[in-house]
Amino acid sequence: MPAIFAKAPGKIILFGEHAVVYNQPAIAVPVFQVQAKAHILPLFNSPAGTIKITASNINLDDEISHLDASNPIARAINLTCEQLGLARIPAFHIQITSTIPVASGLGSGAAVSVAIIRAVSAFFGHPLPDEDVNNLAFEVEKIHHGTPSGIDNTVITYAMPVYFIRNHPPQPFAIAKPFHIAIADSGIHAQTGQVVQGVRQRWQAQQDVYESSFQQIGKITEQAKQCLEAGNLSSLGELMSENHRLLQDIGVSSSQLDDLVQAALHSGAHGAKLSGSGVGGNIIAYADEATLPAVQQALLDAGARQVIITRVQMP
Ligand code: PMV
Repeated sequence: MPAIFAKAPGKIILFGEHAVVYNQPAIAVPVFQVQAKAHILPLFNSPAGTIKITASNINLDDEISHLDASNPIARAINLTCEQLGLARIPAFHIQITSTIPVASGLGSGAAVSVAIIRAVSAFFGHPLPDEDVNNLAFEVEKIHHGTPSGIDNTVITYAMPVYFIRNHPPQPFAIAKPFHIAIADSGIHAQTGQVVQGVRQRWQAQQDVYESSFQQIGKITEQAKQCLEAGNLSSLGELMSENHRLLQDIGVSSSQLDDLVQAALHSGAHGAKLSGSGVGGNIIAYADEATLPAVQQALLDAGARQVIITRVQMP
C-alpha cells in the first residue's frame, strides 16, 4: 500500500449565510490560498485496525481507539471505512495539517473532513466519487453544529463556485468575469453551532421579522448570481453591503466586524460584509485590483490579524 496524500481548499460564503439554513439560496467559492492536507502511511508492524492520528495544529497525536466517537477526525475516518465496507482495516498513520484558520468561517472543519475522506478511501484503493465524499463530510459537519445547511462541505468537495439551496443538489454556476476579494480575519473565534443556535432562538421569538430578513437575503443572493453570471459586477459591492446590514439585523455581526467592514469601505472597496457564521471570523471586501493594496492595509490598520487576497474565477 503506497503513501497517500489528499488536500482540500478553504471557502468563503459570498452571499446568503444563515438564511441558507432556512432554505434560502447562498453562494460560496473555494479559497485555494489556504488548505487542509491529509497524508497516510501504512504501519506494516502494527496489528490490523490500528489507526494513528497526528494533527499538529490541534496537538493531537493519538490512536483512534482512544478518541471519542464524536471526535470529527475519528468520525470522518470511521464513516469512510464503513462506506467502503472493509472487513479488515490494515494499520495506518494519518497526518493532518491545515493552513485554514479554525472557527473563522473559512471552512476548516469541512476541509479537514474532505481531505481525510479522500485520503482514506484512496489509501484502500477505492477513491470515493465527489457525491459520496460530500455526503460523508456533511455527516461530520453535523458534529460541529446540529443543523448544517451543507454549504461548506459542498463548495469544498467540488472546489468550484456553487449556488446552493439546502437539500438540493449543488448547482455550479459560471462566474463570467474574475474578480478579487480581500478576506480579513478579525482574530475572534466563534463557534458556528452556537451562533446558528442563537439565530434559531431569536427566529423562534420573532418569526415574522426573521423570515423577512432571510427572504431579503435570498433575493440579494439571487441578484448576485445574475450579476456574476452576466459578468456585470457594478452592483456586486452594494449587494454585499446590503447583505451585511441584514446580517446585522439578525444579530450576527459585532463591533469588530463592523469596524473592519467600514475600514474596507472607507479605503475604496465597493462593498463588504461578514462571511460565515459571524460574531467573529472573517469579513470579505470586494475591490478593484488597483485598490486592493489600500484596502488590505486599511484592514490591517483596523486590527485584522491577516488579510488574504483571493481571485474568484472558474476553475
Ligand atoms: O462554517 P461557517 O462559519 O462558514 O458558517 C456556516 C454558514 C452558516 O450559514 C452560518 C451555517 C450553515 O450551516 O450554512
